[in-house]
Amino acid sequence: MSLLAVSNLTKNYRRTGKPVAAVDDVSFTIEPGETLALAGPSGSGKSTIARLVLRLIEPDAGRIEFEGSDFLVLRGAALRARRARLQMVFQDPLAAFNPRATVARVLDDPLRIHGIASRAERPRRIAALLERVGLAADLAPRAIHEISGGQRQRVAIARAIATKPSLIVLDEAVSALDVSVRGQILDLLLDLQRQDKIAYLFISHDLGVVRAVAHRVILLNAGRIAESGDARAVIDAPRSAIGRALVAAAPKLNRAKT
Ligand SMILES: Nc1ncnc2c1ncn2[C@@H]1O[C@H](COP(=O)(O)OP(=O)(O)O)[C@@H](O)[C@H]1O
Ligand SMILES: [Mg+2]
Repeated sequence: MSLLAVSNLTKNYRRTGKPVAAVDDVSFTIEPGETLALAGPSGSGKSTIARLVLRLIEPDAGRIEFEGSDFLVLRGAALRARRARLQMVFQDPLAAFNPRATVARVLDDPLRIHGIASRAERPRRIAALLERVGLAADLAPRAIHEISGGQRQRVAIARAIATKPSLIVLDEAVSALDVSVRGQILDLLLDLQRQDKIAYLFISHDLGVVRAVAHRVILLNAGRIAESGDARAVIDAPRSAIGRALVAAAPKLNRAKT
């Protein structure tokens, strides 16, 4: 059984009265511990798929099965419980969190809301989460806006793993970082995946990053799947027109890299 099975997902938006198919009949699966990348040009529907999978928005048609049950019919307590298993990391943690909140507060929230640890136990759990993402414990009292972009993204990852998810949706999660910090965050994601068998829905417009971290890739164009398959095979020899255009436009695809 797949961890996530999306079938015939469709979402239309209206622009000046005219319907735009942001996501048009998209189907895919993600297996436990697997990284599936969604790549494609700006406006191809990547973030809309992320938001549909997270149930931040509702589809016009299609099914989403997560951990063996119909995710679209869950309500109330059942939805909250299942949400703990499906976490997210976005491009800009300054927008995702209250910038004046402390690091400790950002990590305390999921532990409290999902009833994972008692008030007395939570400081220790927060320290352990910081350690797991390579941050010093003395960062806990600092405000989100005071720490660096790389540190903030580590906090976002710590928050995501706090509820022991089976799947994390990462929407351009490393795109705003400098190259060296980006490499460190990607290494952290790979370590966490190896340790906890977490699956990633990894959204990136950067084919070099996708090639380095993803097992499989789906190339989207105008809301539809243009091509999909083994990440390296697709990126090294794209068959679709959009795939060839994306590869040609990628600045420095390091094909020698493993
Ligand atoms: N809330 C919205 N209202 C209207 N149109 C939207 C909305 N969100 C996305 N779209 C449109 O849907 C399409 C896909 O957008 P998006 O999923 O953000 O693409 P990507 O993340 O690949 O850049 C685009 O044409 C975009 O303009
Ligand atoms: Mg997007």
